[in-house]
Amino acid sequence: MSNDLHAGQTLYTPRVLRAYDWVVLGLSNTLLWRCPTTVLRQLYDRNVTANHLDVGVGTGYFLDKAKWPVTTPSITLLDINTNCLDAASSRIARYAPRTILANILTPLPALGPFRSVSLCYLLHCLPGSITDKAVLFDHLRPVLAPGARVFGATLVQGTIPRSSPAQALMDFYNSKGIFSNSRDTVEDLDVALRDRFAFSNIKIKGCVALFEAYVD
Ligand SMILES: C[S@@+](CC[C@H](N)C(=O)[O-])C[C@H]1O[C@@H](n2cnc3c(N)ncnc32)[C@H](O)[C@@H]1O
Repeated sequence: MSNDLHAGQTLYTPRVLRAYDWVVLGLSNTLLWRCPTTVLRQLYDRNVTANHLDVGVGTGYFLDKAKWPVTTPSITLLDINTNCLDAASSRIARYAPRTILANILTPLPALGPFRSVSLCYLLHCLPGSITDKAVLFDHLRPVLAPGARVFGATLVQGTIPRSSPAQALMDFYNSKGIFSNSRDTVEDLDVALRDRFAFSNIKIKGCVALFEAYVD
């Protein structure tokens, strides 16, 4: 395991997770990334189905707030960090989620099939370029039901405008291996999705790329 990957997942101690919603979803999204958390909630509300996989679960905030299409959705949580799995599964215990401890950068165990998969603020934590980390879409392919949707959001750089404070924080996080998005561009994300999905769409809000894709 590379140092970058290690930093991108060991950051999430119980203490950090207790502050995460307030710092990242409350402050950074609005003030720095210029993508209010309500926009991400709308992305979930548009795309979650009754049979859902969330990858990179964090605190489980979006799963807790999402408007599910049924009262008892089947939800699977997949993460490389047990602290995140514990926090998210406790938070949505009312849905009795299944938890999977796994690295999305390696092939997955037999799971699913799922009708929706979310990847929120995961890609920018993974090492390498978008082309490297897009291998996760290949790992998801065997667990997708026909017509399944894959959606998420990630902080990009390249030509996307960002304020000096936003750039400074991204640079700091990249220097610590918490983020690995210095080479991530919306153009590479577009190619990665088009190469793998029957339909894909990316919208930019602030310096966040929000993507939605479907398989046949
Ligand atoms: C920035 S948090 C995002 C949390 C949540 N999705 C959100 O948007 O609030 C990144 C999450 O991805 C997980 N993660 C990082 N690298 C991973 C990997 N290689 N495989 C699976 N999960 C990973 C972390 O443990 C953490 O839960």
